[in-house]
Amino acid sequence: MRDAFREAFGCDPEAEARAPARVNLIGDHTDYADGYCLPMPLPCETRVMMARATAFSARSEGHPPVAFDPSLPPRGDWSDYVAGPLAELAKAGFDVPPVAVLVASDIPQGAGVSSSAALEVAVIRAALLLVGANLPDAEVARLAQRAENLYCGVNCGILDQMASAAGRAGEALLLDCRSGEGRLVPVPSSFRFRVVHCGEGRRLAEGAYNERRAAVEQAASLLGVAALRDAAPGDLEHLPHDIGRRARHVVAENERVLAAVAALEAGDNVSFGRLMTQSHLSLAEDYDVSTSALDRLVASMLAAGASGARLTGAGFGGCAVALLPPEADAASWWAEVSGENPGAWLVA
Ligand code: GLA
Repeated sequence: MRDAFREAFGCDPEAEARAPARVNLIGDHTDYADGYCLPMPLPCETRVMMARATAFSARSEGHPPVAFDPSLPPRGDWSDYVAGPLAELAKAGFDVPPVAVLVASDIPQGAGVSSSAALEVAVIRAALLLVGANLPDAEVARLAQRAENLYCGVNCGILDQMASAAGRAGEALLLDCRSGEGRLVPVPSSFRFRVVHCGEGRRLAEGAYNERRAAVEQAASLLGVAALRDAAPGDLEHLPHDIGRRARHVVAENERVLAAVAALEAGDNVSFGRLMTQSHLSLAEDYDVSTSALDRLVASMLAAGASGARLTGAGFGGCAVALLPPEADAASWWAEVSGENPGAWLVA
């Protein structure tokens, strides 16, 4: 990649950073309710190289070179995920000079495994290196989230950026989205996860995501609590039917995340799997973010012997994650799942 940088910009890179994709094992649509999530990094990543230049420009394989300016409004293309983080760093008081940026990534895009968060985090890390500064992981994640919310216009929570900034290979990250703190939980080698794309990209995701978020915020305000993190299952009975279903998912999902961490720490594959499958049902029935392709994929993951399976991330297409029991033969499990879901492909 250094050679590619030299070829593209005629100089050596001065700073380099990388950030991984993530799979969320359990705890979806809880982050914007101050709740809990349990992501884990995937073995694919985005790398960013950077050097001072006379003007801002960015290149990435498969895209034409882009000239951008973080002080101007977004261009509406991939370079917003480079410009946004640089704009947030400037707002936070870092004196980032014009830079040439090269991006390389083996993270599948639009698959729901946080390719945009990985790019934001890697850009912030490289720029900090370039200006000789350092920030804690949680601060890097917060700047990256702000870039996505304010510059890119996506109203996401902190899950993806925290997972990419603070995740460590082989460990799950119990994320408390209220305090912003993460606790690493080792994943025993008997816990093998498989992440599979259902074959359908995420559809109509943004409007529906914002609508779910609004329902959850409305539920909290009807209950008179700061966020649904503060509600118990018994509090939800008098909520209007549709808002009540959304709230029921969030409140139960928070409980499932904590129970899943206990199962992980106890090495209890069966209980962890059961919680994953309950989470999928709740996301499908109460939260309405599954699709028929995801439901089919999850059903065949279970029929082929997984201990548990669920959609992961925002839903509306993208990926599902399955936990294999210790004795399973992963190759024949995948042969059976892929046989029944011809469009599906193994992400990790
Ligand atoms: C997307 C968002 C996250 C989170 C998940 C659902 O990935 O970017 O903030 O809300 O959906 O858990």
